[in-house]
Amino acid sequence: MADQTTFRNIMGNYPTGVTVVTTATPEKEPVGLTVNSFTSVSMDPMLISWSIDKSVTTHDMFAEGSHFVVHTLAHDQGDVCMLFATKGTDRFSQVTWDWNEEGQPVIAGYSGLLECRVYKTVDAGDHTMLIGEVVRADHAETEPLLYHKRAFGGIPSSFYDN
Ligand SMILES: Cc1cc2nc3c(=O)[nH]c(=O)nc-3n(C[C@H](O)[C@H](O)[C@H](O)COP(=O)(O)O)c2cc1C
Repeated sequence: MADQTTFRNIMGNYPTGVTVVTTATPEKEPVGLTVNSFTSVSMDPMLISWSIDKSVTTHDMFAEGSHFVVHTLAHDQGDVCMLFATKGTDRFSQVTWDWNEEGQPVIAGYSGLLECRVYKTVDAGDHTMLIGEVVRADHAETEPLLYHKRAFGGIPSSFYDN
């Protein structure tokens, strides 16, 4: 038997990195949110996936859009992680960002950048899973931001000891 509390506790005790995923509305406004459901899927073609809660205000922009951008956050971007998870705030006025070739917003300071074309969307319970094909990528070689139980930070110095 599986209950939702056990499920939530197990997933909450699974540490992840953190990303911010962005896209543009049909009116060409930038939108984005903090996401840790991100993972790689395939090398050939290069595919990644993430899932968006159907209750997120910008759900339809992502589910019906053609492109999105995944920023894997750097260790010093805890403020960006919180900003893009905070409701009712003008997120893009508080970061440095620019448009890419496809008219998608790219935020500065990332550890890694994956500019994606929507490959497939999957209806998945209370979420929609988006699978993206990577069309452009950039790696900044910066230490990543880690997330666990509502805390975030860089890789602990003891991590590579053994
Ligand atoms: C560390 C972290 C990871 C998150 N991961 C996801 C995720 O994978 N999918 C998702 O839909 N929401 C995720 N959220 C919550 C969204 O960021 C949040 O609901 C969204 O920004 C709300 O946007 P809205 O105000 O436009 O509805 C996460 C939040 C945090 C703090």
